[in-house]
Amino acid sequence: MTTLLIDDDELDELERELVARVRGRVLEIGAGDGENFGAFDPGVAWIGLEPDAKRRAELATRAREWRHASAPLDARAESIPLPDASVDAVVGTYVLCSVADPAVALAEVRRVLVPGGRVIFVDHVLAPPRTLKRAVQRVATPIAKRVCHGCHWDRDTERALADAGFVGSDIRRLRVRSMPFGPVPMLLFDGRAPGGDV
Ligand SMILES: C[S@@+](CC[C@H](N)C(=O)[O-])C[C@H]1O[C@@H](n2cnc3c(N)ncnc32)[C@H](O)[C@@H]1O
Repeated sequence: MTTLLIDDDELDELERELVARVRGRVLEIGAGDGENFGAFDPGVAWIGLEPDAKRRAELATRAREWRHASAPLDARAESIPLPDASVDAVVGTYVLCSVADPAVALAEVRRVLVPGGRVIFVDHVLAPPRTLKRAVQRVATPIAKRVCHGCHWDRDTERALADAGFVGSDIRRLRVRSMPFGPVPMLLFDGRAPGGDV
């Protein structure tokens, strides 16, 4: 399958366009230092979680500037301190590559979402079988996990989302220009949890 080849700026633009789609009570998991704030619709009621203390401090500063944000939660996606069916949408950019257990994290995402709630995920993903990129990803992941805050280069995130019951309405599989081992496969996923009448 041929996938569209883009550069970093084009990816940023697509990512912002996706993040801008969510409405209502929005949970951002692994929100980092708050890069996505500039992309959210101004009416969104933002809740964020971030386990890294340094990033969370910066995130808290940005959250205070946002009219409808609560203080970021010190939590991991595998154990979200929110009630069942309490948010309308969940956003995660470059987080499913980092969480310790994607299946557990996605089950938690599903639990806190209202039925039919929206999910937006953006991440780099495992390259197709029999490619040099995939071989490099497999070899490099144990090192990347140690030096890049738990980042896995070899996750099949589209499969994990499907296994968790999420259904995509706009799934984009792209490649981003990169050196030296060729383009990085990316997944941009706009989908919904089961249930609801949407
Ligand atoms: C590559 S950064 C992405 C940050 C931000 N989402 C962005 O796009 O700029 C990955 C983030 O996930 C956080 N993280 C790591 N493990 C996590 C977990 N189990 N649950 C939630 N967030 C986690 C890290 O602390 C880090 O801030």
